[in-house]
Amino acid sequence: MKYLVTGSAGRIGDLACRQLVDDGHEVRGFDLHASGFEHEAYSEVLGPLHDPAAAGTACEGIDSVIHLGAFMSWKPEEVGQMFRSNVEGTRIVLDAAQAAGSKRFVFASSGEVYPENAPRYLPLDEDHPRLPNSPYGATKLLGEELVRFYARTKPMETVILRFSHTQRASEIIDRDSFFSGPRFFLRRKIEQQDAFGNRAAADIFRAADPGHEALVLCCNEDGCAFQMDITDARDMVTGILLAANHPAAANRIYNLGCNDPVDFEAFLPKLSDKLGLPVVRVNLPGPGVLYHTSNARIRSELGFEPEWTIDRMLEDATSGS
Ligand SMILES: NC(=O)c1ccc[n+]([C@@H]2O[C@H](COP(=O)([O-])OP(=O)(O)OC[C@H]3O[C@@H](n4cnc5c(N)ncnc54)[C@H](O)[C@@H]3O)[C@@H](O)[C@H]2O)c1
Repeated sequence: MKYLVTGSAGRIGDLACRQLVDDGHEVRGFDLHASGFEHEAYSEVLGPLHDPAAAGTACEGIDSVIHLGAFMSWKPEEVGQMFRSNVEGTRIVLDAAQAAGSKRFVFASSGEVYPENAPRYLPLDEDHPRLPNSPYGATKLLGEELVRFYARTKPMETVILRFSHTQRASEIIDRDSFFSGPRFFLRRKIEQQDAFGNRAAADIFRAADPGHEALVLCCNEDGCAFQMDITDARDMVTGILLAANHPAAANRIYNLGCNDPVDFEAFLPKLSDKLGLPVVRVNLPGPGVLYHTSNARIRSELGFEPEWTIDRMLEDATSGS
C-alpha cells in the first residue's frame, strides 16, 4: 500500500510515517516543513496544503490519504492562515486525492468541534452536538463537512477521527512545550495568558507565584481540579492506522483518545515528585475544564486499545533522566 501522510513533520504525523514504513509500506509525507525522517520507502512533498499543484503531486499514485496537516492557533491574528490551511487546504487535498483515485481518506478532526470545554453531557460521544466556540474548532467542523460532502458525492471512502488532546510523553515534563508548558508550569502559564491579552487570568496566576518555578494545579471556582483527556501520540497512531485500514471504518466517524481522563488532582503530585517542583493550587472563575470523551465506538468497532496512560507517559518521559 502507498500512503500519503499530510502534516508529516508534526507530533503525530512524523510518528505515523515511521510506523507505516516499519510496517513495510511506501509512504509520502506532505508538509510545509521537512520531517528529518530518511528512509528508502519514504519521500516528501514540501508545500502548503492549499496549493493545488503541490497537493496534486503529493496525491499521485496514493492508495490512502491520512490528512493530519493543520494549523492549530488560538491567536486572533492567525485566524486567516488557519482557515486557509485547515478548510481550503482540506478541500484541495480531498480534491487531489479523489482525482488520483485514492481509495480512502482519513481526516483528523478534533474534540474542539463539540467543544470539550463546554460539554452538554458527559462523557461526550459522537452524537454530541457540534457547537465549536473557537475559530480552530470551526475550521475542523468545516473540514468535517467537506469530508462528508465527498463521502456523499464521490467514490472515495472517508473516515473522520475526532482527536483527543494529544501529547508526546516528553512534552509532559517540558516547560517550553506548546501545550504542556503552560498547562503545568506556573510561569509559562502567566506568560501565555499575558500573550493572549487575558490580563485578569494572568494576574490570578501571578498572585500565586511563590517567587520560584512551580507547577500549577488549575481548579474551577468550586475548587474542583481540572480533568481532561490527554492521549499519547503513539496511541493516536494506532487508532489512525486502524481507521486507514479496517474495512468497518469506511465512512464512519470516531472519537479517538484515551480510556480515562487525567485527574490533575492525582497527577500533579506525581509530576511534582519527578520534577522536584512544588505545586500551587489556583482556583479560576467559571466551571473550568472537566470532561471525558468516550472512545467506546472505536474500541468496539475497530478493536482500538490505547496503551499509554498518563502515569506510563510520565514514567517513559522521566526514565532516562
Ligand atoms: N495535538 C492535539 O492535541 C490535537 C488535538 C485534536 C486534533 N489535532 C489535529 O491532529 C492533527 C495533527 O496534530 P499534531 O499535534 O501532530 O499537530 P502539529 O502542529 O504537530 O502538526 C501539524 C503539521 O501540519 C503542518 N502544516 C500546518 N499548516 C500547513 C499548511 N498550510 N501546509 C502544509 N502543512 C501544514 C505543520 O507544519 C505541522 O508539521 C492536526 O490536524 C490537528 O489539528 C491535534
